[in-house]
Amino acid sequence: MNESESIFRRRQLAAELADELMGDSRTGMAWSGLFLSAPRRTGKSTFLREDLQPALERRGALVLVADLWKNNDVDPGDVIVDVVRQALAAHEGVVARAARAVGLDRFGFGGFSFSIDRVGLGKGVALSDALAELSDKVQRPIALIIDEAQQCMATRRGNNAMFALKAARDELNFAHHGLRIIATGSDHLKLRMLLGSREAFFCATERIFPVLGRDYIDWFRSRHGFSDVLNADVMTHLFARAAYRPELFESAAVAVGRDGLVGDDAAAVLERRIDEQMRAVHAPAMRTLEELPPLDDAIIRVMATSKQMFAGFSASTMQTYRRVMNALSGEPSSRLDYAEVERALERLVVLRLVWRSALGLHVLEDPTLAEAMRRAGLLDVVRRVSGRKLTLVSGAEHDLSVA
Ligand SMILES: Nc1ncnc2c1ncn2[C@@H]1O[C@H](COP(=O)(O)OP(=O)(O)OP(=O)(O)O)[C@@H](O)[C@H]1O
Ligand SMILES: [Mg+2]
Repeated sequence: MNESESIFRRRQLAAELADELMGDSRTGMAWSGLFLSAPRRTGKSTFLREDLQPALERRGALVLVADLWKNNDVDPGDVIVDVVRQALAAHEGVVARAARAVGLDRFGFGGFSFSIDRVGLGKGVALSDALAELSDKVQRPIALIIDEAQQCMATRRGNNAMFALKAARDELNFAHHGLRIIATGSDHLKLRMLLGSREAFFCATERIFPVLGRDYIDWFRSRHGFSDVLNADVMTHLFARAAYRPELFESAAVAVGRDGLVGDDAAAVLERRIDEQMRAVHAPAMRTLEELPPLDDAIIRVMATSKQMFAGFSASTMQTYRRVMNALSGEPSSRLDYAEVERALERLVVLRLVWRSALGLHVLEDPTLAEAMRRAGLLDVVRRVSGRKLTLVSGAEHDLSVA
């Protein structure tokens, strides 16, 4: 079975988005870009690859895909540049290839008027010029899909790439064949920051990418022949319990089916399995938390209760760290300096518990970890020492406020 058969296709959603994207309205997402956000593991990348990309291609677009999570070692800015370079190389004319073969660095007839090697951020040929050239060459709109676009905010080169893409978008939509930008992210907070930043996509349309629903459950049930105990209503309810993660839900459901559980308790067994697997999702991070030094531990607990990204060094925040740390360690410390906090934040970033933007703002790397921490009782201490009502970072589909 290939992957296309093992996933539920979302053709209608793809068609709606592609129609809007490829339209020529100057006020809509065609012009300004589309930003899709949805929680982790709910099918964003699959949708982009299996449904949206073909729908855009059917409407005449040349689709380029930059996956900023594919390789952690490569700067997000460079990933985007590489994607554009590869597209240029693929559409380089035969004449141009021949010119290259004989060692001509520049050529202007039948091919591009510059060397592809010089395309880049600060490398001589601006990203916007390269995209304009590509647009003229292929004579059709370019759709650039950027998966996990918030990563652009984590580095200076990524920021620069976003800035360059905004310029390219404006230029191509005015004077060439159009540039449609589609970006996704798993963290609404980070994506918001990207949208609001000076460099980025002011006015872009932000959409919550809908999680899979009842039609997916019907499709899944029809492939497995579950008993009536696990009917569509029950399964829809349990899919929500699995945080709308198809992979996790399917493996739990298939295991229950395989065990031949058709009795009345099948739903309860499936529910327990899902809960176990959901706990397992955060188990590695929770184990890392147990090993943290008191200051790092205090910082991450405070961060998990903040709805905003923060620099992490304001006087009142530092005061809260200190209080939480003292409550945790039993060895009260009367002061805490900036450098210590800076080093602790650095360690948390290295452990990938905390995400830092190029501007030095911090937030939990995985917003759903906050809920796991709350369930484990790790956040009670913050409420105790600060005496205020806490709101957790992630509030996507559940109400996560703790009074
Ligand atoms: N439409 C679908 N039907 C069935 N399974 C799906 C569907 N979409 C995604 N999945 C499965 O769910 C898992 C996660 O999918 P995917 O990687 O697309 O999600 P994501 O939201 O991009 O995740 P991440 O947050 O890690 O980027 C994969 O195993 C994928 O095969
Ligand atoms: Mg993904």
